[in-house]
Amino acid sequence: MTFLVVGATGTVGWQVVAALREAGAPVRALTRRPGAATFGPGVEVVGGDLTDASSLASALHGVTGVHLINFGGDDYAPLENGRDLVAMIESAGVRRATMLAGWSESTLEPAVRASGLAWTTVSPTEIMANALEWADEVRHGRVERPYGDSRTAMVHEGDIGSVAATVLLEDGHAGAEYLLTGPERLSMREKIATLGSAVDRKVEFVELTPDQARVSMRAQGVPEHMIDFQLEVFADPPAEYNTPNGVVEKVTGGKARTFAQWAQQNAAVFR
Ligand SMILES: NC(=O)c1ccc[n+]([C@@H]2O[C@H](COP(=O)([O-])OP(=O)(O)OC[C@H]3O[C@@H](n4cnc5c(N)ncnc54)[C@H](OP(=O)(O)O)[C@@H]3O)[C@@H](O)[C@H]2O)c1
Repeated sequence: MTFLVVGATGTVGWQVVAALREAGAPVRALTRRPGAATFGPGVEVVGGDLTDASSLASALHGVTGVHLINFGGDDYAPLENGRDLVAMIESAGVRRATMLAGWSESTLEPAVRASGLAWTTVSPTEIMANALEWADEVRHGRVERPYGDSRTAMVHEGDIGSVAATVLLEDGHAGAEYLLTGPERLSMREKIATLGSAVDRKVEFVELTPDQARVSMRAQGVPEHMIDFQLEVFADPPAEYNTPNGVVEKVTGGKARTFAQWAQQNAAVFR
């Protein structure tokens, strides 16, 4: 049993690799730049680019289960070759697939759903690791963001990895579309206060208007479609994004990690 993790060098994929390794499963980590990637023992680094399905041939050889992402490129462009990718995956004899679903669908999701694979989608709400973007501001004691009272049930990236690994290793999840939340509904102000407590510093929260936030994100080089998405989602998060749903707990049998735990684990970045 070998598992191929696509996006293995990324926030979520890294955690999928870690959870599979913790379960003792052999893992192949796919990256476009194999020379630049370093993983621990038990992880074979393989080269491949999702935008060119044929480049995955040797990475897929002998693979039982694959963890997929639905974008290709550093701008998160939705994949346009979903059918080719699924044909390549099926012809390699892969039986099970998890798919990190996200902000928008690509051609991959319908192709996977229509395939003979035992597939499962894993969609996070807000990922806790997004908080790393606030590190500079937290270090300076002042965070400027819009929608201070907007709440989400943000999820720990380690829990996304645990769910994906469980689904790849266990029977019983085929056809499930899992939305993953954390255990709490936290407002932006509360998230910043939690980070302040983790580093024992008072951090002022300054609420920006949506227009001020757009100007600030543009200055940081955030692509326009991501700005639109963030402003839309945080203006009025859908109920399912801010309601803890217990899926992490149900799938993994463990407790979903809190943001306070995440903040303690990552405190060094915010000091
Ligand atoms: N952040 C959130 O709150 C949130 C919430 C819901 C959903 N999501 C979803 O999460 C996803 C982002 O995941 P992430 O945060 O783990 O990403 P990330 O940390 O930015 O990592 C991106 C990964 O994608 C790989 N990659 C990019 N283009 C590739 C290609 N053409 N071929 C092969 N690999 C490629 C990169 O590998 P190499 O560079 O090594 O090749 C890297 O491992 C998005 O789909 C988003 O919709 C995020």
